[in-house]
Amino acid sequence: HTEETLVLVKPDGVARGLTGAILARIEAKGYALVDIALVEPERDTLERHYAEHAGKPFYEPLLEFMMSGPSVAIRLAGNRVIEGFRSLAGTTDPTTAAPGTIRGDFGRDWGLAVQQNLVHGSDSPESAARELEIWFG
Ligand code: CMP
Repeated sequence: HTEETLVLVKPDGVARGLTGAILARIEAKGYALVDIALVEPERDTLERHYAEHAGKPFYEPLLEFMMSGPSVAIRLAGNRVIEGFRSLAGTTDPTTAAPGTIRGDFGRDWGLAVQQNLVHGSDSPESAARELEIWFG
């Protein structure tokens, strides 16, 4: 059945000029762009989005990174789009993400406290509903 997911092109992806390349992969896969916006989130938005990571060593660097520049937020739709986008994105660590994935092809370790891994995708229908409400209301 058709479902929706939240995709973010994170500040590293926008700053490196990879938004178009990332969108091209999403569109080529056949998913539908329902809404898209350039966003500069406040800290409280990010605290809600990343609530599950509060207290982890990379939490503060993660919030600082996510406030370092604009991101692109995308409401994406399609059958099985949640797992489908995560497959396109590749695994969290860009160093070992499979070539052919967004993170595997465009990401690397920059020696920073947070993994700059270009994109975010919701990991479950519950996360998607929660995150879409945070970013799109
Ligand atoms: P994402 O999975 O979208 O959401 C949590 C983010 O935290 C993740 O992307 C990375 O950007 C970052 N992250 C996750 N695990 C680590 C880690 N072990 N060290 C540094 N950053 C991490």
